Amino acid sequence: MTSTPSTQATPASVKAQAGADGFSHKLATVAETVETFLVERLGPAVGPGEIARPARLMEAMRHAVLGGGKRLRPFLAVETARMLGGSEAGALAAGAGVELVHCYSLVHDDMPAMDDDDMRRGKPTVHKAYDEATAILVGDALQTLAFEILADPAWQADPAIRADLVLGLARASGLGGMVGGQLLDLGAEGRFGPVQLGVEDTLQLQAMKTGAILAFSVEAGAIVGGASADERAALLRYGLALGQAFQIADDILDREASPEAMGKATGKDKDAGKATLVDRLGLDGARAECDRLVGVCEEAVSRWGERARTLCEAARFTVARKV
Ligand code: IPE
Ligand code: IPE
Ligand code: MG
Ligand code: MG
Ligand code: MG
Repeated sequence: MTSTPSTQATPASVKAQAGADGFSHKLATVAETVETFLVERLGPAVGPGEIARPARLMEAMRHAVLGGGKRLRPFLAVETARMLGGSEAGALAAGAGVELVHCYSLVHDDMPAMDDDDMRRGKPTVHKAYDEATAILVGDALQTLAFEILADPAWQADPAIRADLVLGLARASGLGGMVGGQLLDLGAEGRFGPVQLGVEDTLQLQAMKTGAILAFSVEAGAIVGGASADERAALLRYGLALGQAFQIADDILDREASPEAMGKATGKDKDAGKATLVDRLGLDGARAECDRLVGVCEEAVSRWGERARTLCEAARFTVARKV
């Protein structure tokens, strides 16, 4: 690893380092379970209602999804459900569905028409390893597979829960969420005409492109775990703050980390004219905002006391991570 350690560790990052090992183990354990689930879903066997699985498309989907990524979104779904005493298997399936939408968003985000990146998760991006048309179709197919999993009674017997999950993921990932945020992100580069985004506009853009799906990951755990309306509102506050912090940390890492450490290009946002809080507030201002958001996360789940320990660790990991 060649990244330079931060010389300005924040209180939140110090706390996270202290508890890093136990947390890393928990994250890795869920990631392994998610991997097994996704390997099975992306196997060669033709599924119910399918006609055939074209080998090239399936291989490219496996390239996009398997063997990489922190799997933070499924982790949040599983840990939220676990905190509430809900079904971990149901939360895992829902979280895996969210992960597939996330992977699709990365495949499209990396394409030449968007961020034009060659490396992702330490491997060539899908359009590099295959071609652009295949990469578009990989994204399309990952998205529909995600919704298929959420709607499948094999993972979730209760139809009301399935409908709630599908509705929530659709809202988080579409026009008013991730896709809309991606449009605003590209617009901030000035591609569609001159724009001047302030701090509030940047926060909204990031809440959409990144925060909505992370917040939904938590919400998926809340839905599966049978949270009350009041509990769901508290968990939404946690998820939105964590999502905001996550993208600010990504933007800090774009400035400070090496491509080798991140498995993707870094140092590109400034030249591309991306709207980031690092650009608007400076590195110290962005770090301070991350710390404030970790405090919001901790406060939002404080009613669960010790049972919320992992979600608090996840918030601290989000801002202190090096990958
Ligand atoms: C990267 O997300 C894209 C953003 C939303 C900033 P992650 O940092 O979660 O990427 P993986 O899944 O671990 O590769
Ligand atoms: C990506 O944000 C957000 C989505 C894919 C929706 P970035 O463009 O900053 O993510 P990286 O840095 O390429 O992972
Ligand atoms: Mg992008
Ligand atoms: Mg990108
Ligand atoms: Mg980035």
